[in-house]
Amino acid sequence: MPLVSFDEALQRLKSGSPVALPTETVYGLAAPIDQTKTLQKIFELKGRPLSDPLIVHASNLEMALSLYENPSDEITTLAQNFWPGPLSVVSTKKSSVSDLITAGLPKVAVRIPQSPLFRQLIEDVGVPLAAPSANLFKKVSPTQAEHVLETFPGVDVLDGGSAQVGIESTIYDLEDSLILRPGQVTASDLESVLNKKISYSERLKTPGSEVDHYQTKSPIYVFEDHDELKDFLSLNSKACEVLIPPAPEEAQQKLYGLIREADKKSEALALYFSPDWSGESWFALKNRLKKASTKWYKEKNEK
Ligand code: TXA
Ligand code: MG
Repeated sequence: MPLVSFDEALQRLKSGSPVALPTETVYGLAAPIDQTKTLQKIFELKGRPLSDPLIVHASNLEMALSLYENPSDEITTLAQNFWPGPLSVVSTKKSSVSDLITAGLPKVAVRIPQSPLFRQLIEDVGVPLAAPSANLFKKVSPTQAEHVLETFPGVDVLDGGSAQVGIESTIYDLEDSLILRPGQVTASDLESVLNKKISYSERLKTPGSEVDHYQTKSPIYVFEDHDELKDFLSLNSKACEVLIPPAPEEAQQKLYGLIREADKKSEALALYFSPDWSGESWFALKNRLKKASTKWYKEKNEK
C-alpha cells in the first residue's frame, strides 16, 4: 500500500525506509540524516550521482542551527523572516553532518519546511530529515502524491495534497551572499532583511545541477511571440499548447502539474511566456523553463 498514514510514515522512517513527504515547494523523498543506508537508497532510487548534495530539513530553529558550525546571526534573521518556508540556507557545516549529505562539500543546505505534517514527523523521529525532490534525477519535480507514485509505485507516500508553492526552494549561500537557485524568496526579499547586496549566482548552478534539469519525455518549446506559437501548433499536429497562468505565484504552483499532464498526451509541449513577465517575481519560473526547454524561441541558445 504505497499511500501511508502519518503513523506508518513515522514507523517506516524509524525502521530504515525512505518515505515521500509533502512540502510547500515539492514532494521530497526523506530519510533521517543519521541513517547512511537509507540515504544511499535515496540516491539509488533517484538515479542521482553522489556528487549532488541533499537539503536537510529541520523542525525548529534550534535543530537547524545545530547543523552549522558557528552559525551566524544572519541565519537567525533569515529564520525569523522566512522559516518555516521555501528558503534553504547554505553555510559551513558541523563536522557531524556526513559527507554523503553534502557530497563532500564543507557547507550544508538547511531549511524548515512549512508543512506541519513534515515538521511533526521530524519532531517524532527526533532527527533532521534529508530530502531531495521525489523524482528521478533531472526529471520534473512532483507537486502531488500521485506524481510521486507515477515514478515510484513501490515507495511509501504521505499525501499532503497539492504543494502550495510548486517549485523548489530558493538556495542561498550565506558566506558568498549568492543565490544558487532562484525560488519564491527573491534576492530583494533577502536584501530587505539583511541590508546587504545579494546576487544571483551567474550561472545559477548548484553542485550537481546541469542545464538539462526538469526534463519531460516530449520536448518543450517556449515562445515569446503568439504568432510564432500559433504557426508552430499548426505545423505540428501532435504538439499541444500549455497555458501558463499570467500571475507568477499561480504559474509556479501549477507549472509542473501542467507539463506532466501535457507530457502524457503530446509529442511536443508549446508554452507561451510573455516578454512582459520580466520582473523578479517571474525569475524562478523562467529559470526552470529555461532548463526544461529544448528551445526558447526568442533567446535561442541562452540557457
Ligand atoms: O524545495 C526544495 O528545496 C525541495 C524540498 C523537498 O525541500 N528539495 C529539493 O531538493 O529541491 P533537490 O535535492 O532536488 O535539490 C537540492 C539542490 C541540489 O541542486 C543541490 O545541489 C543543492 O540543493 N544543494 C544541496 N546542498 C548544497 C550545498 N551544501 N551547497 C550548495 N548547494 C547545495
Ligand atoms: Mg530536485
